[in-house]
Amino acid sequence: MEKREELYAGKAKSVFRTDDPERFVLVFRDDTSAFDGEKKEQLNRKGMVNNCFNAFIMEKLEAAGVPTHFEGLLSATETLVKKLDMIPVECVVRNVSAGSLCRRLGVEEGQELNPPTYELFLKNDALHDPMVNESLAVSFSWASEAELTQMKKLTYKVNDVLKALFDEAGMLLVDYKLEFGRSSGDSTDIVLGDEFSPDGCRIWDKETRKKMDKDRFRQGLGDVIETYEEVGRRLGIRFQ
Ligand code: TMP
Ligand code: ASP
Repeated sequence: MEKREELYAGKAKSVFRTDDPERFVLVFRDDTSAFDGEKKEQLNRKGMVNNCFNAFIMEKLEAAGVPTHFEGLLSATETLVKKLDMIPVECVVRNVSAGSLCRRLGVEEGQELNPPTYELFLKNDALHDPMVNESLAVSFSWASEAELTQMKKLTYKVNDVLKALFDEAGMLLVDYKLEFGRSSGDSTDIVLGDEFSPDGCRIWDKETRKKMDKDRFRQGLGDVIETYEEVGRRLGIRFQ
């Protein structure tokens, strides 16, 4: 496999073409952004930490029957993935109230949500990722009804797997965001793409409720990467 030209640079990762038209290389950079790119910083070792974290989680999800784009680690900061036709809708599950839910509804942070909530957001930084729903997604052809059904099913399956994984390691999976795509142009073939790392979820210590995710960066709490590594260590991840 040969890495070729850069196709796209996101806020924290870049995508490179390879000599295989069906496979891309994801490069996890040290760039960290929040508030849709308003706050930006380079955090030493973040690319490596998130790359290893993501690989560990994607492998757990694959093993549990969630199809993912993950193919394998290439280096400390690079991962080989399947090419997907990405769906521009982000799927968010919340087990505990936090973040935009609290701001939007005026509810207190830290309330258990039973059953867990499911929300859709349009992936659009300029519009600050507005909340959408299935009806809008279908009418604007962002995804079909069948695709949305599959995305919801997989997003909840991820919750079953990861809630238990974090719980066993003394942590609470508060919420997370997933992005899906179509593989091989087949609309029934919905695959988990993007990444799963402490950048795109909220994780609290079960006892102390210490924040162990990107809220440390958003809220200026310090020790961002050290805390990501602590989450990883508790899960048994070996960082390079
Ligand atoms: P929110 O509270 O800002 O709506 O976010 C809910 C969860 O989803 C939180 O863990 C952060 C994650 N998320 C992203 O990582 N990127 C996004 O663009 C959105 C909308 C949410
Ligand atoms: N992921 C988005 C950004 O980097 C939103 C956030 O994390 O606050 O700007």
